[in-house]
Amino acid sequence: MTFDTAAKPRPFWVAGSARSGTETLDVHHPYDGTDVATVSVPSAQDVDEAVAAAAGVAREFRSTPAHVRAAALDHVSRALAARSEEIAETITAENGKPLKWAEVEVARAVSTFRFAAEEARRFVGELQRLDTDPNGEGRLGVVLRRPRGPVLAVAPFNFPLNLVAHKVAPALAVGAPVIVKPASATPLSALILGEILAETDLPAGAFSVLPVRGRDMAALVRDPRLPVISFTGSTSVGWGIMDSAPRKHVVMELGSNSAAIICPDWTDFGHAAKRIATFGNYQAGQSCIAVQRVIVHRDVAEAFVPELVSAVRALVVGDPHDPAVEVGPLIDEDNAERVESWIAEAVSGGARVLVGGERSGTTISPCVLADVPPEASVCREEVFGPVLVVSVVDSVDEAFAQANATEYGLQAGVFTRDVQVAFRAAAELEVGGVVVGDVPSYRADQMPYGGVKGSGTGREGVRSAMADYTEDQVVVLSGLTL
Ligand code: SIN
Repeated sequence: MTFDTAAKPRPFWVAGSARSGTETLDVHHPYDGTDVATVSVPSAQDVDEAVAAAAGVAREFRSTPAHVRAAALDHVSRALAARSEEIAETITAENGKPLKWAEVEVARAVSTFRFAAEEARRFVGELQRLDTDPNGEGRLGVVLRRPRGPVLAVAPFNFPLNLVAHKVAPALAVGAPVIVKPASATPLSALILGEILAETDLPAGAFSVLPVRGRDMAALVRDPRLPVISFTGSTSVGWGIMDSAPRKHVVMELGSNSAAIICPDWTDFGHAAKRIATFGNYQAGQSCIAVQRVIVHRDVAEAFVPELVSAVRALVVGDPHDPAVEVGPLIDEDNAERVESWIAEAVSGGARVLVGGERSGTTISPCVLADVPPEASVCREEVFGPVLVVSVVDSVDEAFAQANATEYGLQAGVFTRDVQVAFRAAAELEVGGVVVGDVPSYRADQMPYGGVKGSGTGREGVRSAMADYTEDQVVVLSGLTL
């Protein structure tokens, strides 16, 4: 199947209805630059109508029965599954990730919406005893969770469907209207999601999908009718949003330079090497939890590092539509050039290239670097490219210290079978998630997901995001016989 390059601009979604504008935006295939589609761009008037509709429906929507919200979410889950082949093709066309990873992304979005339907049915709050003090005798607190209000969901290019799903599904599950601003490079999957949402019985205004340009986003960010912002993207843009909207509830999932630690007790080097090679390079490294730094204990370095290099060398690079391909292009040539220049910077500082690192257009061959000076960009920054930086340490303590020596803190992977080391890792590593016995890139869509330090604030993962989009309201019942 080939992706349909429909000539007419794709409509956007304002308060549940398709609409076209006069301005357009072209979507290009990252691998070869070919035209994929043209998308209509909303005007300031369209944006204002969408926000007004979200604000206007907020009270009605938060009182919608749970079964109505759950049925809508279940519909989205089933419709995504039914259209999975077409949507995977779309993701590959707009984002350039290999088809096999696009298929995984669609399957994950199917689950994300299904989890949200399940959570919508059970999400409620709690009872709280108030008779723990004499003045509370005969009283009971009913603590309800109320939506904070409409959510502005700003999504990145690297998971154009599932990271939109992670914002939309929990918002709809709690009865909060949501306005999606997809990444300008990859708006198509979000627009398909809009089409599927429009098939549901959600009230008009419960969702809009607005592919506004990044430069026109500031008005949405500042709009007081959108009290919640859920942002996934670069660290600089994320903290900029936080600074420009200090009174809003902002959930931010930002970048990282995630570490995988190989402890001295680990023996299955082939497995660890394969996992790290795969998850340092899946989506060409463009995932916030892609492995970037590989910290290896000296006792096992001699056995492990050659296995890693041959696993990376074996990865198939090329056209992401080819089912055999494991590593496709970066999102655009600017980013490929940036990664190439960071590799060159590391080499000029004394790093050795163990494999890869050559650029051809938007593609970089998967690269392993050793002896990299710690101040090099490939160590300090988020590379968001297919680059692994290997360092050798003399103790587990040194490995933890090195993993923490960064401004980021999203997830870490610790290859150990020693439960003591695993719990020490959880206690000492400054991250939002520790994956024991695997790469930091493991994510299940129902688990809490988010970072500490420069990697953000708040948590995604369906139930965690529902908690983030709501706040307690206590109802005190008095004069009760308890
Ligand atoms: C991300 O890049 O933060 C998302 C990773 C994932 O959902 O697997």
